[in-house]
Amino acid sequence: MNLLINGAAGYIGSHCVRQALDAGHRVFALDNLSHGHRAAVDGRAEFVQADVGDRAVLEGIFSSHRIDACLHFAAFIEVGESVVDPDKYYSNNVAQTLALLGALKGRPSVKLVFSSTAAVYGMSTLTPIVEETPRAPINPYGRTKMVAELAIEDFAAAYGIGACLMRYFNVAGASPSGEIGEAHEPESHLIPRVLQAARDGRGPVTIYGSDYPTPDGTCVRDYVHVVDLVAAHLLALERIQPGRVDVYNLGSEKGFSVREVIAACEAVVGRPIPSEVRARRPGDPARLVASSRKIERELGWTRRYPELETIVGHAWNWHRGHPDGYAGR
Ligand code: UFG
Repeated sequence: MNLLINGAAGYIGSHCVRQALDAGHRVFALDNLSHGHRAAVDGRAEFVQADVGDRAVLEGIFSSHRIDACLHFAAFIEVGESVVDPDKYYSNNVAQTLALLGALKGRPSVKLVFSSTAAVYGMSTLTPIVEETPRAPINPYGRTKMVAELAIEDFAAAYGIGACLMRYFNVAGASPSGEIGEAHEPESHLIPRVLQAARDGRGPVTIYGSDYPTPDGTCVRDYVHVVDLVAAHLLALERIQPGRVDVYNLGSEKGFSVREVIAACEAVVGRPIPSEVRARRPGDPARLVASSRKIERELGWTRRYPELETIVGHAWNWHRGHPDGYAGR
């Protein structure tokens, strides 16, 4: 297939570019490099530096190449920042998605795979969370993703676009070869923060709250390897039908607490990693664990790297080998 990958220089997008090329697809990689890294984009892809919502650029790509599918990863992802600067989040996550949908409007043969998030479920107390759980986001980030989902559903109904909404739980890990990995600036996610602290001998890792109603009092999350997550997107391409929207959770049905994640990092790194408990981070649900039965059943998705130690091990290879991320590459 000819694929347009938006947000191709980001953490998940860059893994998708590589896996899609390895699977024999032709890839047009679009990114404005505001957060992404040019060096993360596989050299076999045809790279275009532009806003993913630039209608002229999109029209140019769609009219000069027969694009079979678009995978839309580009988004801002910091929950805390979305609270203080919702304009930035709606302008990017909603407006840019709308521009893409506008370009897809007359092209129902182009399949759309959209990166959504567990944040659309808000504080759900269901465990594991199934796709039918009502959307109830509790922060602007989650609301921008919900609004984009709703727009995709409306465009599918009215204009025949076929789409798949992928709701990610906690994505982690790196390419098993260690060549590409997570390089957010600033980094807010637990696993990279713990591994960076271990690598740099930095001060204690902060645990945001130990008074949650969970077995050890710290938040429980469901971690999925980035390679397995991307594989689900490529599988979804086979299923998408014009006018229909499918929704899938991507997780593992297994939760790990913050303390368990730190312990897994210590096992991989081979030494203790100091931590200290601080106040809760606003907006953190106690427990978010996905049911991914639907995608397993309907698309035959299986995880190649289900073990937390493997996910952390691949992330550690990346962080250890690239202390400055993509700088200088
Ligand atoms: N945490 C710490 N210390 C840190 C970083 C995180 O204790 O230094 C805790 C958080 O409080 C949370 C857990 O580790 O309980 C996981 O936090 P992450 O920031 O790694 O991930 P989140 O679960 O907050 O976020 C993920 C996605 C978001 C998505 C959200 C849905 O990264 O994009 O799930 O709830 F919105």
